[in-house]
Amino acid sequence: MPTVVSGIRSTGNLHLGNYFGAVKNFIEMQNEHNTYFFIADFHSLTTHPTPADLHINVKQVMAEYLACGIDPDKATIFVQSDVPEIPELYLLLNMNAYLGELERTTSFKDKARQQPDNVNAGLLTYPVLMAADIIIHKANLVPVGKDQEQNLEMARTFARRFNRMYNVETFPIPRPYTFEGKDMVKIPGLDGSGKMGKSEGNAIALAESPESIRKKVMRAVTDTGPTEDNQQKPEVIKNLFTLMEVVSTPDTVAHGDLKKQLAEDIITFTTPIRTSIEDIVKDEEYLSKVARNGAEKARASASKTLQEVREIIGFRKFY
Ligand code: TYM
Repeated sequence: MPTVVSGIRSTGNLHLGNYFGAVKNFIEMQNEHNTYFFIADFHSLTTHPTPADLHINVKQVMAEYLACGIDPDKATIFVQSDVPEIPELYLLLNMNAYLGELERTTSFKDKARQQPDNVNAGLLTYPVLMAADIIIHKANLVPVGKDQEQNLEMARTFARRFNRMYNVETFPIPRPYTFEGKDMVKIPGLDGSGKMGKSEGNAIALAESPESIRKKVMRAVTDTGPTEDNQQKPEVIKNLFTLMEVVSTPDTVAHGDLKKQLAEDIITFTTPIRTSIEDIVKDEEYLSKVARNGAEKARASASKTLQEVREIIGFRKFY
């Protein structure tokens, strides 16, 4: 049975990009695969959240995952920082990760540009930690959006490198999971820029209120520049159509008042998820039970791999 690992940073609410890029396909896989879904709270430290925000966000993201339909009886859902084997594997992999290749990563270069005052080593080695997340469970498949393609390629490199270095077949080479052989998903933002993202301010959250969704969608076209500037429009309208393709039924994609229809279709799509988020986030007991069980299952799998890796590297007990 193939093993699947998927993660999301705990930096804020899940948005439509996260859902269609990484969550939807995961939900479809939980019946027939060995699935791990986790909240990447170590990764969120690169932007220095306050302790209170960090704590709230982890819980929120877990509630949002569950509201999307991740079933803790089928999948293992856990918090990254509950699994100390992950940072240990990260340390070991760092010894075989080279400065040149890490510096060349697009996400590192982007982040270094976005936060020039905080180009920390965690940002540089971000793909190494991500590789540890994936290969600690010997994953075969990783459902991710297009923006994570390069990070996943690096995870493949680190897995291959370890196998080759020690002449073992410990790690399968993980592949991105895409729908029916299609390209990896990239959900556009409302502002006509490339992708919907938490930090880009162009996202619609699954927990967003209907009023706020209507406002954002209505603003989407007019915000992109002077109305006479027709050159901007086609790109934005294309974005709206792409969003419609994922949230609307096929017959509404073709006609109607585009923006109004899109807003209503998004609301129809998100409302059951939003109400479920509101219920789950209040249920502290349920959340802590899910987190505890998930941590136990994730650690069982992770410690098995780490034990094997330690042996291979030469950390063998002599007492
Ligand atoms: P993050 O938290 O930015 O996003 C979580 C998942 O959502 C996908 N995604 C999108 N897909 C399509 N269109 C979009 N506009 C869009 N925005 C986000 C992302 O591709 C991702 O799959 N580094 C990861 C978290 C991570 C991880 C892992 C993922 C850490 N370790 C191991 C998989 C396996 C990240 O920052 O994703």
